[in-house]
Amino acid sequence: MTEIKRGGRAVKLKSVADGFDLDQIREDFPVLRQKPHGRKLVFLDSAASAQKPRAVIDAIRYCYEAEYANVHRGVYWLSERATEAFDGARETVRSFINAAKTSEIVFVSGATEAINLVASSYGGTFLEAGDEVVISHMEHHSNVVPWQFLRDRNGVLLKVAPINDDGELILDQFEAMLGPRTKLVAITHVANSLGTVLPVQDICEMARSRGIRVLIDGCQAVPHTSVDVQALDCDFYVFSGHKLYGPSGIGVLYAREELLKLMPPYQGGGEMIASVTFDKTDYAAPPYKFEAGTPHISGAIGLGAAVDYVRSIGLEHIAAHESDVLRYGMQRLAQIEGLRIIGAARQKAGVISFVLDDVHPHDVGTILDQEGVAVRTGHHCAQPVMDRFGVASTVRASIGMYNGRDDIDALARSLNKVKEFFG
Ligand code: ALA
Repeated sequence: MTEIKRGGRAVKLKSVADGFDLDQIREDFPVLRQKPHGRKLVFLDSAASAQKPRAVIDAIRYCYEAEYANVHRGVYWLSERATEAFDGARETVRSFINAAKTSEIVFVSGATEAINLVASSYGGTFLEAGDEVVISHMEHHSNVVPWQFLRDRNGVLLKVAPINDDGELILDQFEAMLGPRTKLVAITHVANSLGTVLPVQDICEMARSRGIRVLIDGCQAVPHTSVDVQALDCDFYVFSGHKLYGPSGIGVLYAREELLKLMPPYQGGGEMIASVTFDKTDYAAPPYKFEAGTPHISGAIGLGAAVDYVRSIGLEHIAAHESDVLRYGMQRLAQIEGLRIIGAARQKAGVISFVLDDVHPHDVGTILDQEGVAVRTGHHCAQPVMDRFGVASTVRASIGMYNGRDDIDALARSLNKVKEFFG
């Protein structure tokens, strides 16, 4: 056990050295005691939103019970306590992704807002008609649509790097797309619909050697792998709190400080200003320049607690455990006749997408639910990926740190029931 200070409170954390104990981790997530339809809950939808450990729930409750007030605005004791906890969360996030400064960590509502912010503020200012933004064919809609807005507004061209039949980026074709007009690469770190892990280090090197900026959507990566934005040398890195076992409604935009200084604000209001007259407003320094209005105080504190929790387990332990469950799942599901796995990348994290015979994925999901197995069905906000593989939707089982081989066994058993039901 180690002890840290969060706001005015000392919090005990497990030590990474304690190792990975699946039973203990499951105990840490109260919701896993729920019994849907009288069955053990087999939660395989963490890519949509992960469950919350007691440490996060306690941090949010403590925030409201003991140290809640607005932040950066009060001279009184309670506001100072809240501010200390809120600022502490920013520092926790900074060190989690190894950003150089806390001024490079902007709290936003989630990855979607972060990408919209960059497209609107950075793209709207520094990209001109004819400049190119390169994305991949396996982006979530949140890393497609904001660039389409920019295309429609500024005349920027959107280029899409292809993927192969295993759902991997075709790296040489991607590289060939980087031309003199390419100004930005906006790419996912781990594809939400397929689980493909992209070679983001290589991508950053290819882009930077040509003077191209890089935005990485790390939503599906940060729960599974450690990220070092300085080692990546990316310009922007975004993720949501709720997939990292933290609250929803809070997320992070990491951006180099020099860019944040150059970028115009995205929204106007309180907190983002240095001074206001009716003639003119001077803006606050980053990150506050991009945080108009009262922030999501409890959300940031909850996210900080989630980061602490994940680090106390150790991302290397989490990754090793999840890889084992994923490998087992890929093998186990491949044995089910009529089941086609979509996405078999060599580097893969956390996700198994599939279709089963001719059964509609929603029907599969509904029957799985009756067995207590929660999966996501649909296009997973990645319709171009579905088009690429010639399907309208898939069933997606996604793995969190609390899943084990037993959950995969339950999924496989339930899929056999689906097959029986549909003859
Ligand atoms: N983006 C989330 C998912 O992949 C909601 O399910």
